[in-house]
Amino acid sequence: MLIDGHGRQVNYLRVSVTERCNFRCQYCMPEKPFSWVPKENLLSFDELFKFIKLSIDGGINKIRLTGGEPLLREDLDKFVAMIHNYKPDIDLALTTNGYLLPDCAKSLKEAGLKRINISLDSLKPAVAAQIAQKNVLSKVLEGIDVSLELGLKVKINMVPLKGINDNEILDILEYAKDRNIRVRFIEYMENAHAHSDIVGMHGKEILEVIKQRYTIHKLGRVGSSPSFNYEIKENGYIFGLIDPHKHDFCESCNRIRLTAEGFLIPCLYFDEAQSIAEAVKSGDIDKASQILAEVLRDKPKENRWSEEDNEGSNRAFYETGG
Ligand code: 5AD
Ligand code: SF4
Repeated sequence: MLIDGHGRQVNYLRVSVTERCNFRCQYCMPEKPFSWVPKENLLSFDELFKFIKLSIDGGINKIRLTGGEPLLREDLDKFVAMIHNYKPDIDLALTTNGYLLPDCAKSLKEAGLKRINISLDSLKPAVAAQIAQKNVLSKVLEGIDVSLELGLKVKINMVPLKGINDNEILDILEYAKDRNIRVRFIEYMENAHAHSDIVGMHGKEILEVIKQRYTIHKLGRVGSSPSFNYEIKENGYIFGLIDPHKHDFCESCNRIRLTAEGFLIPCLYFDEAQSIAEAVKSGDIDKASQILAEVLRDKPKENRWSEEDNEGSNRAFYETGG
């Protein structure tokens, strides 16, 4: 079992397989042009897998592949199969913008993928295009449909932004309810890379909008999930709110992150990271285990989004997968 320096059990590893993305979401990507980390700096799937094996052996039982956009990485289905074959009962999930799912979902399912979280910030083509800075909506909706037809478990993520998609909270809720899938509304996490004029909605404001149509009651957090769940009294539908600005958000944090370059990141908010790249490249598994132990020991107690005068994180979400 992996325990961090604050006594929290860590059983969840998020692996970003690429920082590259085919979208340019305003809450994630910089306004100015920037360059990607060169491809030769990426760890191969074999190298990433060496770390994954040791973390599974240590007690990780949930793995999520993220990005950037993970479906841009070639042969992702083979990587899914490597993890699945090593431990078939692992909770193996993917977070994607959905655009490439119509082409990839089937092979990922066959490789052992169980669950997919898909970002859906708007149901209006022009608004979706404004946020992602690309005409994306029809492909994303098709990706959701294909995943559901294949029997994958699907969740939808929406980041409500003031003046952009804040009038679509109820539409997205109804869309998810009609398909019997869970939607989670995510508070915008301020960060140095996003467009400077982006203003997120606070969890309370999101709930106020939903209360205009429905009576809701609190269910709470289930296990270590970052999502605080609510049930709609009128129809029993359950939705989630991911509220990193709330004080108790970090109490049950159970996760660490690995980037495509091999940085092990204990908290999404802070810059701290340690590289396991050399250790896995040279096959020094003891060294990689030692770095994992240090990262766990030093995992921060809580993020700073919860602080009143929070100025946001310096972390780029396109590196760490949100
Ligand atoms: N704040 C909140 N959510 C974010 N995501 C990406 N950047 C941010 C941010 N700054 C979300 C995406 C996606 C998930 C990977 O993280 O919408 O659903
Ligand atoms: Fe790409 Fe996801 Fe960032 Fe949007 S939020 S630009 S889809 S990595």
